[in-house]
Amino acid sequence: MISAGAQSTPVDTSDPAFPADFLWGAATAAYQIEGAVDVDGRTPSIWDTFSRTPGRTAGGDTGERATEHYHRYRQDVRLMADLGLGAYRFSVSWSRVQPTGRGPAVERGLDFYRRLVDELLEHGVEPAVTLYHWDLPQDLEDIGGWPARDTARRFADYAALVADALGDRVGLWTTLNEPWCSAFLGYGSGVHAPGRADWTAALHAAHHLNLGHGLAVEALRTTLPRDARIAVSLNLHEVRPLTRSAADHEAARRVDAVGNRVFTGPMLSGDYPADLISDTAHLVDWPELIHDGDLATISRPVDLLGVNYYTPTVVSAPPDGQAPDSAAASEAGHGDGAQSPFAGCGDLLFHRAPGERTAMGWTIDPTGLTDLLLRLHREHPGLPLLVTENGAAFDDRVTPEGAVHDPQRIGYLRGHLDAVRRAIAAGADVRGYFLWSLMDNFEWAYGYGKRFGLYYVDYPTQARIAKDSARWYAEVIRRGTLPDPGV
Ligand code: FCB
Repeated sequence: MISAGAQSTPVDTSDPAFPADFLWGAATAAYQIEGAVDVDGRTPSIWDTFSRTPGRTAGGDTGERATEHYHRYRQDVRLMADLGLGAYRFSVSWSRVQPTGRGPAVERGLDFYRRLVDELLEHGVEPAVTLYHWDLPQDLEDIGGWPARDTARRFADYAALVADALGDRVGLWTTLNEPWCSAFLGYGSGVHAPGRADWTAALHAAHHLNLGHGLAVEALRTTLPRDARIAVSLNLHEVRPLTRSAADHEAARRVDAVGNRVFTGPMLSGDYPADLISDTAHLVDWPELIHDGDLATISRPVDLLGVNYYTPTVVSAPPDGQAPDSAAASEAGHGDGAQSPFAGCGDLLFHRAPGERTAMGWTIDPTGLTDLLLRLHREHPGLPLLVTENGAAFDDRVTPEGAVHDPQRIGYLRGHLDAVRRAIAAGADVRGYFLWSLMDNFEWAYGYGKRFGLYYVDYPTQARIAKDSARWYAEVIRRGTLPDPGV
């Protein structure tokens, strides 16, 4: 379990510098920035359908225009170069490359990513490709989506097409982004596309995402040059029990099982944890779901583990038989769904940790990141780690002079980068940090109201404005160390 009740480990913090070869990056995802949803052969993904469905996103926002990155990518790569980024993590839109989710690739779709990669390389920015950041082709959802086993195979075929097109120029690959969100927000609580609320479907989706990951790793290893590095990005929950009581520890164990070990178990240790199987036996016929050979496929070794972290998760058991109301699940910070996204945990209470919060309502607690990285280091020694997402939304405003002062974001980033440094000082092998996000974008069900960017996007004009945090991050990258507070 993730440091249930543990204090952060005291470590030597005397060396303020990051390792010389530390990778400094920023991240985005296709549906959140590209726009151009019906251009060059692209067909709808589940996020097009979901966001166009009334009531699903704040203000009815969709990714139809987003930040128009599909047409403005050259300008955006210049912004990255201005920051001095070492790497840029972006995702490929499956329905741009393979509109029905099967069959040959559409070259015009792939050409966009070829152009983007060339532009990055010309500016000295290493491309880091994520193959799947939640935008399943709608055609595949219509025949079952992730709860259907065949989707895993389709994903591996798609992975091979992208690897074939970009493998000569891209050295860092991520199969899935946050499969927990795809499975449990998409099919469990229903706050993400495709918006189903069925724990059994969600657990089936989790297994098929695991399988898709393993099959994609196999496909990538066959297609890519030998020195390509392959990762998966997981949003691992730093689960903390509200009190030291045995009941709260048991609650944290259950959330850890269905929030974390449902992925790390099969991917990194070759099996589903026994407690997860027994906790969810009333929802899933696991022996039928897991076919012979699946676990060997899912546990194909990765070169790096991507870790996405924003805030800890605090959980408790309800006092004697008191049923939680539906608001209790939303306190986990994953939106108000039809039911808890944590399958089989509908009886548990979630709490916001005390302290300052971001505009998402997420408590700012960098100790969670140190603890999470150190747990992974302990449990999976020898597996290099990469922070593939971390950042914060605040209510940014442009001043009459055209500046965006965001001291709170700088504070958040400083705290979390320091947390990474502490984990490194304590022995964790953390190779890099990708800040979420390069620029403001479509924040899923929250729409455009939540701004995570280093660059402010003025949506009516699509102007990009460097926030103070952009200059601060550029300085961190330039120095390879955290500047003194006040800089
Ligand atoms: C993560 C997602 C990313 C972004 C951040 C805020 O869960 O991977 O796309 O929405 O949260």
